[in-house]
Amino acid sequence: MLNFLMAATSRNSNESMMHLTATREILESVIDQIEDGIILAQPDGKVTYHNIRAKELFGLANDFPLKNLNELSHINWKKRMARAALDSGDQYGTVIASDRLIRFEEKVHVGETARFLEFTVRRLFSKNVQHEIRVIVVRDISVRRRLEATLQTGGTCGLITSSPEMLKLLERARQIAASDASVLLQGESGTGKSCFARMIHDHSKRSRHPLVEVNCAAIPETLMESEFFGHTKGAFTGAIEQRNGKFSAANHGTLFLDEIGEIPLHLQAKLLQAIEDGRFQKIGSNETTSVSTRLICASNVNLRDAVDKGGFRADLYYRISVIPLTIPPLRDRLGDVPVLVKHFIDDLVARGHADNITITRSAWQALLNYPWPGNIRELSNAVEHGVICAETGTVDIDSLPLDIRLYSQEMPIQGFAEPQAPAEGETGKECSNGGRDELLAALKKAHGSKAVAAQILGIDRTTLWRRMQKQGVSSM
Ligand SMILES: Nc1ncnc2c1ncn2[C@@H]1O[C@H](COP(=O)(O)OP(=O)(O)OP(=O)(O)O)[C@@H](O)[C@H]1O
Ligand SMILES: [Mg+2]
Repeated sequence: MLNFLMAATSRNSNESMMHLTATREILESVIDQIEDGIILAQPDGKVTYHNIRAKELFGLANDFPLKNLNELSHINWKKRMARAALDSGDQYGTVIASDRLIRFEEKVHVGETARFLEFTVRRLFSKNVQHEIRVIVVRDISVRRRLEATLQTGGTCGLITSSPEMLKLLERARQIAASDASVLLQGESGTGKSCFARMIHDHSKRSRHPLVEVNCAAIPETLMESEFFGHTKGAFTGAIEQRNGKFSAANHGTLFLDEIGEIPLHLQAKLLQAIEDGRFQKIGSNETTSVSTRLICASNVNLRDAVDKGGFRADLYYRISVIPLTIPPLRDRLGDVPVLVKHFIDDLVARGHADNITITRSAWQALLNYPWPGNIRELSNAVEHGVICAETGTVDIDSLPLDIRLYSQEMPIQGFAEPQAPAEGETGKECSNGGRDELLAALKKAHGSKAVAAQILGIDRTTLWRRMQKQGVSSM
């Protein structure tokens, strides 16, 4: 209950009391829907209000009567807050006694699993509130923490991203790696499907055995069956030696069938049988070979559509897509462009290029405006092209590949005026119309990412933030 609100109403008339009760109910139902836990507590730890999520985060049953902070996962609140205040550079405890934010993290155990929770605590003073109230916001940051650990140990096989959607996908891939379930990776060419396949294999219990990759688009149709299952000597013209196929090579490991949509229909039935039974026969042999292999498939055409059009067997589709993961194209995660550009430049520097590379504003705009049909592969090549062609280490629009230059000429960014000299004290320009249109256009183009919007405008993030404040533009 929001008791402090009720206390504030005791002096009011019946009408305003009813109004406040209605407001409180609305407020409570809104607070119950948010993803963070909210707890209001008095200085002695007595809990006066909490939303549903707060109990969920600590693994407490819905009907558990949460009365005191001490009931939450053995956290010593006083000690923890004092330490957080000290960590924030406050030596005399003034943070605890003021209304400044205190933030700290705790690892709590919920059943078998560990959960990383971030706590933000603020003291609330108000004339209308009888007691001092501490507002505690609890956020589950387990996904972020685990991913950071994975990234630090190089466990993502070089996958770089700052996109929340991609981070979720990486976390999902990490979670399902341990199982033997078939994974279907879908996404445009160059989005990172092969990298995901490697990462899943490397995180699986099969990682000490081989990951065998078969690019189904690169094998002539007539040789495909032999490539998968092998053949005996003399099984067909040209079969001068007996040969094992990729299924046998992937025994105990992972079989990665890239471009699986390219397998002809007649072979799909045999493939399904081999996947389901883990058994098959070499061409020309009556003997059955058994294997234990985990299957990962990839396709850059939508296999569901291929099923609907009759080009792919529905039963095989369901068998291989137990865990479907769809990797978004680069144009839908423009925030990744700056981090990937930096990553590819670092890579080039490590390979011997000079380390004084800078990128002009117009080149950044062209990179962020381009739709990247070849995705990360194309971006990697574009950065290499740009760096090689850069005069005195400055990558300008003229150093970029032709496709990108042509695109930026034909499709200039909507809503941007011609670049002008930076205003004093700013690295970028203040545009016409007080800059509001340009600001909105940049934020829209950047899908709300302030880092990317700042890159587009050629200003730093603080300047962007100041302009947003000045123009009354909130985050999108
Ligand atoms: N997030 C990323 N961070 C760094 N490099 C990446 C990332 N995603 C992809 N790459 C790089 O981009 C290139 C293309 O990736 P990958 O081969 O995995 O794409 P794909 O989806 O399998 O493409 P295709 O459909 O053509 O097989 C590779 O060199 C890979 O290392
Ligand atoms: Mg690939």
